[in-house]
Amino acid sequence: MNMKTILAIFGALIMLAALGRAQMGMMRGSGPGMMRGGMMNMSMRRHHYVMRNGLPEEYVGKRNPLSRNAEDLALGKTLYQSNCAACHGAQGHGDGPAGKNLNPRPANIARFAKMPMASDPYLYWTISEGGTPVKSAMPPFKNVLKEQEIWQIIAYLRRM
Ligand code: HEC
Repeated sequence: MNMKTILAIFGALIMLAALGRAQMGMMRGSGPGMMRGGMMNMSMRRHHYVMRNGLPEEYVGKRNPLSRNAEDLALGKTLYQSNCAACHGAQGHGDGPAGKNLNPRPANIARFAKMPMASDPYLYWTISEGGTPVKSAMPPFKNVLKEQEIWQIIAYLRRM
């Protein structure tokens, strides 16, 4: 090996180390809670998809029309437990029994639903279309749940 090769390898190693640190920083950067579920427990695939393509036209500008009263939240909870908990877990941590062997894994939605990226249109689109656009195992719910039921679940996710 000549000196040039050694320097090139050395440089590449430093770059890799720096990248690794930057990534760890990103994970830690969003608060101590992020480390528990971990950044990896969010749907990176979906986030990248939306960054590249945006949301489909018909979902942009959707707003939760519910006033989020106790009744809507209770109904949202019941709907969540019967339609989502098997994969996303009873507390929404992404640890439901039916999700264990999925790739990608179900997301920690209790945490994600409180982040700025989790807008009404984003959540409504995700639940309606499920994993179809991002090729995941999440089923689409647009023909399973009524519009109001999806909003009740979204109201509940924000309070989980
Ligand atoms: C069969 C398992 C399964 C079921 C049932 C399921 N999901 Fe998912 N869900 C996933 C998987 C896997 C992902 C990660 C890949 C993706 O984004 O599609 C995911 C991702 C999500 C995301 C995106 C999180 C993020 O970080 O962007 C939300 C929100 C979500 N699910 C909500 C729900 C809700 C609400 C229900 C019930 C109405 C539900 N899911 C039912 C498997 C499931």
